[in-house]
Amino acid sequence: MARAKHKTTKFVFILVAILGAFFIVDLLWASSSSASQSVASNWAFQNSHAFIVPNVVSPNNNTISSLIKEKSKQDKKGVVPERVLSATFADLPGPELKWEKMSTAPVPRLDGAAIQIKNLLYVFAGYGTIDYVHSHVDIYNFTDNTWGERFDMPKEMAHSHLGMVTDGRYIYVVTGQYGPQCRGPTVSTFVLDTSTKQWQDFPSLPVPRYAPATQLWRGRLHVMGGSKENRHTPGLEHWSIAVKDGQALEKDWRTEIPIPRGGPHRACVVANDHLYVIGGQEGDFMAKPGSPIFKCSRRNEVITYMLFNRNVGS
Ligand SMILES: *[C@@H]1O[C@H](CO)[C@@H](O)[C@H](O)[C@H]1NC(C)=O
Ligand SMILES: *[C@@H]1O[C@H](CO)[C@@H](O)[C@H](O)[C@H]1NC(C)=O
Repeated sequence: MARAKHKTTKFVFILVAILGAFFIVDLLWASSSSASQSVASNWAFQNSHAFIVPNVVSPNNNTISSLIKEKSKQDKKGVVPERVLSATFADLPGPELKWEKMSTAPVPRLDGAAIQIKNLLYVFAGYGTIDYVHSHVDIYNFTDNTWGERFDMPKEMAHSHLGMVTDGRYIYVVTGQYGPQCRGPTVSTFVLDTSTKQWQDFPSLPVPRYAPATQLWRGRLHVMGGSKENRHTPGLEHWSIAVKDGQALEKDWRTEIPIPRGGPHRACVVANDHLYVIGGQEGDFMAKPGSPIFKCSRRNEVITYMLFNRNVGS
């Protein structure tokens, strides 16, 4: 009891110290800067490939001792220590967003997928732990902010790294990883009719992919990029198939112009009749060779971010 109290006091003290130190750096920064706003709103400098931030360290990196060291250097030299960062990391000035805690999700999830249709959020599959994957859908109701209905996915459907898109009623679920750890992907593809909660089969993708960019555009379901069967190698391939009301109108997927840079986990949207593929990853964890449980191991992981826009077929 006494120990717990002592711990709490110590924690509060550290918290106050961090806040105090940050405030001092903020003040110094503001007074040494011509536009005397807060640290955050000064971070983004326009028309610059690099920008300078005051040397505020992250909370889990010996915050206090390094901050105090920096501060004493600062006092001697009378300047705020700075470091130069690539403009890639600049925060855009924006309104302060207020967060509100909502009801807890029914299960923890990693690398599942979610899609909103009107006031309902459909949340699919995902890892519960590295050794356990979910094979059901949970529905969140934005009208009364509750988690409600839960129903099963088809047995053959992937459990993570799904390609997913909706037309407002039908949800297309394309390929993805089947099983936990770093198991292989499946080509199996399905359609969910959200008004009946019925699953339908759909022509399988020609080859399996992890987390491909998936979007509906001009009456066709497009699937691009993702990782290849080894999970790591970026796939550049791009396929499409004509669809209407959850049905494929063609027997086979059509091969389209490959995307310039492949890889998993891109955002993909259609705006002003252009198909945009945004950001994402290159490379990923792979299964340890010979591991009976396909144990994930980190090999050659590379993360990149980029933005490009495709205007295929026009
Ligand atoms: C702490 O920050 C320094 C400098 O930014 C960095 O070199 C070091 O790796 C960090 N340490 C940890 C544990 O994150
Ligand atoms: C969502 O919540 C509202 C308000 O409780 C309710 O009227 C509606 O039926 C719910 N929708 C579904 C699909 O459960």
